[in-house]
Amino acid sequence: MDESRGTIAAQGAMTVSGTMTASVPAGGFYVFEGIDGSGKSTIARAFADRLASTGQRVERTAEPTATWLGEQVRRGNREARSDFTETFLYIADRAEHSALIAEWLKDGRSVVCDRYVGSTLAYQSVTLRHHLGYRALEWLKMVNEPVLVRPDVTVLLRIDPEVAIGRLSGRAEREKFEQVEFLRKVAAMYDRLATEDPSYVVVDASAPPEEVLERVWGSMGKR
Ligand code: TMP
Repeated sequence: MDESRGTIAAQGAMTVSGTMTASVPAGGFYVFEGIDGSGKSTIARAFADRLASTGQRVERTAEPTATWLGEQVRRGNREARSDFTETFLYIADRAEHSALIAEWLKDGRSVVCDRYVGSTLAYQSVTLRHHLGYRALEWLKMVNEPVLVRPDVTVLLRIDPEVAIGRLSGRAEREKFEQVEFLRKVAAMYDRLATEDPSYVVVDASAPPEEVLERVWGSMGKR
């Protein structure tokens, strides 16, 4: 959505560049979503590198961002602040990030983003369900709407929560949300979003990363 694109200065994102022929349209906004342990960050990075190797100018970025706002998100999580505080922190971080993303797109760059609004809709609709019941999702959509740049493609990397948790068990520090029951609910919410939002493509993420990347790349041409 061009009209939602703004003007904030860059922080914490990475520019990647390369030299081959493009097969995925330039200037696109590509978002990667999935539960913790889906391998999303690895695939987003590999996808950005591949896009750059086709000669596109690519910005690779992520949420929570590497800015002071992203740091407040992490701090809010560490300190187990209220579900609403946490939600508003994610959205505040996104408001600034979206403006930056809009600038990059306006400049003709492609943007590859590891988590975006889908994460808030999927995770916070589960945490806020205790407060808002099933209105949580609609409420979150409404609050996010004014601070969004609409993704061209949202890749949902789908994986069984049990498998995802197994992958995470090697990590030194567990994120707050890395519990199987919770991830099951988040995964169900992602599935719902994928059926409702035409920007979503769903890719089975249980295979080795090279194969997942091929599937993601292949799915772009089918859109
Ligand atoms: P990461 O491990 O992909 O960096 O994400 C950090 C955690 O933050 C992860 O458990 C998902 C969570 N998260 C939300 O709950 N809502 C959001 O809007 C975002 C961006 C992340």
